[in-house]
Amino acid sequence: MDTDTQRRTFAPDSTQDYGEDPQAVRDTEHYQKEYVRGFVEKWDELIDWDARAQSEGRFFVDILAGRGKKSVLDVATGTGFHSVQLLKNGFDVTSADGAAEMLAMAFQNAADHDLVLKTVHADWRWLNKDVHGKFDAIICLGNSFTHLHDENDRRRALAEFYAALKHDGILIIDQRNYDGILDDGFSTKHKYYYCGDQVTAEPEHVDDSLARFKYTFPDGSEYFLNMFPLRKNYLRGLLEDVGFQQIHTYGDFQQSDGDEETPDFFIHVAEKEYAE
Ligand SMILES: C[S@@+](CC[C@H](N)C(=O)[O-])C[C@H]1O[C@@H](n2cnc3c(N)ncnc32)[C@H](O)[C@@H]1O
Repeated sequence: MDTDTQRRTFAPDSTQDYGEDPQAVRDTEHYQKEYVRGFVEKWDELIDWDARAQSEGRFFVDILAGRGKKSVLDVATGTGFHSVQLLKNGFDVTSADGAAEMLAMAFQNAADHDLVLKTVHADWRWLNKDVHGKFDAIICLGNSFTHLHDENDRRRALAEFYAALKHDGILIIDQRNYDGILDDGFSTKHKYYYCGDQVTAEPEHVDDSLARFKYTFPDGSEYFLNMFPLRKNYLRGLLEDVGFQQIHTYGDFQQSDGDEETPDFFIHVAEKEYAE
C-alpha cells in the first residue's frame, strides 16, 4: 500500500459533528470525535513543523537533558512533532494518544523521518492500564490538557501521569494563556504551535467553561475544537494537589518566568522531587 493510500484508509470519518448546539458540547469524551481524518490530515498544515521547530528551539531538549532525563512518554503525541524531535535528539520515546487517527499519522510522519515510533493507544484517565513501565519524563504538549472538560478527569489524568513517572520524574505540560483570553480577549503572536501562515486558529466563543476554537484552511475547510479554558494558577494548583513538589512556569519557550509578559502559551515543568 502506498503512503497516500495508507493516509486515506486509516480512519473512515472525515466530518466533525457537534450537533444542533455546538456550544453545549463540553464533554471530555468528545476529543475522539473532534480529531476526524480530515482535520488530522490538516493538522500539520496548521502547526508547520519547520516553523515550530525554529520557534521552540532547544527548549524541551535542554530542560530534559539538563536534568539527565532519557526515557520520555509523550502522552499527547498528536501527529508526532515532539516525539520525532526528541527521538532525533537521542531520547528513548514512547508515544501515546487517545485518538487512533492521530497515532496513525504520527507513525507515518516518523517513518518519513526514518524513525519508528513506539505507539500506545491510551486515554490519560486510565493511562497506566495501557502504558507499562516508569518514565523519567512525561510531556503533554500542544495545549492538549485543555481537552478535559471535567475537573475529576483532570485530577485523574494528572494522578495517572504522576504514577507513570519514576520517583524523580518530571511532567512538562503546557496550555494556552487562557487568562489573557478570558480577561482581555484574544490576541496572538501567531508564532508558536499554529505557525502555518495560510491558516487561522481563533476562538469563536469563550466563556468560563468553554473556549471553542475555529481553524480555517486555504481550501476553505474549517474545523473546531471545544476546549476548557484552563487558568494558569488553577492548573498549577492541580499539579500541587496530585503531589508535584516544584513547579516552574515559563512563557512562550523562554527560560524566564511566565509572569513577565503576556505570552500566548505557558509551559509548566512539574517535578516530583522535593526542592533542596
Ligand atoms: C491539540 S492536539 C496536540 C497534539 C500534539 N501534542 C501537538 O502539539 O501537535 C491534542 C492531542 O491530545 C489528545 N487527547 C486529548 N484528550 C485526550 C485524552 N483524554 N487521552 C489521551 N489523549 C487525549 C488528542 O487525541 C490529540 O492528539
